[in-house]
Amino acid sequence: MATARIASLADHVGQTVTLQGWLYNQRGSKALAFLEVRDGSGIVQVVVSEEEVSPEAWQAVQDATQESGIEITGEVVEDARQTGGVEVRASGVTLVSQAEPYPITPKEHGVEFLMDRRHLWLRSKRQWAIARVRNRVIMAIHGYFQEDGFIQMDAPILTGNAVEGTSTLFELDYFEEPAYLTQSGQLHGEAMAMAHGKVYTFGPTFRAEKSKTRRHLTEFWMIEPEMAFHDLAMNMEVAEGLLRHITQEVIDTCAEELEILERDVKALRPSLDGPYPRLSYSEAVDLLTSDETQTMLQAELDARTEEKSALDAERDADQAAYGQAKKGEKRRIDSRRIEIDKRLAQVEEDLRNLPKWMESARSFEWGADFGGSDETVITKHFRTPIIVHRYPAVVKAFYMKRDPEDNRLALGMDVLAPEGYGEIIGGGERATDLQFLRDQIALHGLPESAFDWYLDLRRYGSVPHAGFGLGLERTVSWMCGLHHLREAIPFPRLIGRLHP
Ligand code: 4AD
Ligand code: MG
Repeated sequence: MATARIASLADHVGQTVTLQGWLYNQRGSKALAFLEVRDGSGIVQVVVSEEEVSPEAWQAVQDATQESGIEITGEVVEDARQTGGVEVRASGVTLVSQAEPYPITPKEHGVEFLMDRRHLWLRSKRQWAIARVRNRVIMAIHGYFQEDGFIQMDAPILTGNAVEGTSTLFELDYFEEPAYLTQSGQLHGEAMAMAHGKVYTFGPTFRAEKSKTRRHLTEFWMIEPEMAFHDLAMNMEVAEGLLRHITQEVIDTCAEELEILERDVKALRPSLDGPYPRLSYSEAVDLLTSDETQTMLQAELDARTEEKSALDAERDADQAAYGQAKKGEKRRIDSRRIEIDKRLAQVEEDLRNLPKWMESARSFEWGADFGGSDETVITKHFRTPIIVHRYPAVVKAFYMKRDPEDNRLALGMDVLAPEGYGEIIGGGERATDLQFLRDQIALHGLPESAFDWYLDLRRYGSVPHAGFGLGLERTVSWMCGLHHLREAIPFPRLIGRLHP
């Protein structure tokens, strides 16, 4: 008898198969049990009738607790009401292992509770869906570059170079020499681009981010293409093409996952089409500080205020009805309250943030770097990612080429995702001049000795080149509509979180 995976059960209608998985949930009446069984590929309903199975099998069903390992033999039957369009009528059930009382129950748990049990939380539907979208995003990225003649390369994780400033370095002792966990594979990518023309890294990168935000991990995955004979405009083309390709792949292959995540695909669709708006930093500042922005934020503030009173009223009405409500109605009120409270928390967060954002937008001055909330505000004007380019050189890294038309500016670019997700890509055109780079290295307080190998790239065949870094978790968060980066990676690393 064939062992089948749940995802392919529709191909086995009418056949008897064996499933190997875990008990996700169980309900039942006296002689009939409905098991929700998951095997990693999906979830299926298994119906067990006491009359149709052996006493041992029926006992196994009684003993099966949530998350017990379980093996089912049964016939696959069509049932349009079920997800996947099938259910299984069991003829045999064996318990592989009985699970102890499972800590993650179907009720609501706090995020820290769940994060402490991340190794188990990964099994829940929502986390399952996110991990699968992440897998698709990864494959889409490889597909995009491989189709276009790029060579994938692995940059070192242990390095002697600070790439993105010295304030977020994880330092370690490398046989009595200072070393760092890499912040970015870019510099080594530039070396490989001079060997292969077009390359990309795909690896873990590390930053000692000392504050808790929803956009920062201390360990995250970055994809860094680097291309010889590419300027800033060509760099933007590659970045836009990549994001459009990722969006297409997710929409095409992750319908089930997006549905589980309650991710509105309509919000992603605009990002399938280009061109994404390109704004110079100065244009972005003008937009941020405009009356139009204040009007937009004020309208949002008014809408949220109204929404909050409506939610409060709904909550009060439920509260009042609760005392007299029957059991079933009480349960409905309870679950409605969870939904209302979730929504209220979001609305209240917006109500706290919006006045701050309005003030910060109003008082923003040319020359400063955009903060996360400034990015959020700017992108509220658009439905697709936007590309902001030509930042003041002082807010960017040492390796950026200067704008020949305005020496105050660096030929850098950031791609900002819509819906408040903010920066998902940072990159730009690289400085090619040896002496300029030497000066910049000194100006940024970096030791020239550690960069001598990098300067060789300007000594031997220096050519125009450009590249960027895409943050994988930020991209996955945007695709999935997540509130916080910590759910976008199986085992997140944040300040205060090293386990599990
Ligand atoms: O803008 P960043 O710092 O750029 C670089 O590292 C360049 N060397 C890349 C290059 O040109 N090759 O980082 C690039 C991206 C950000 O846009 C963001 O998506 C992500 O990496 N990122 C983080 N993601 C999660 N947690 C953090 N702490 C991150 N810091 C950056
Ligand atoms: Mg950046």
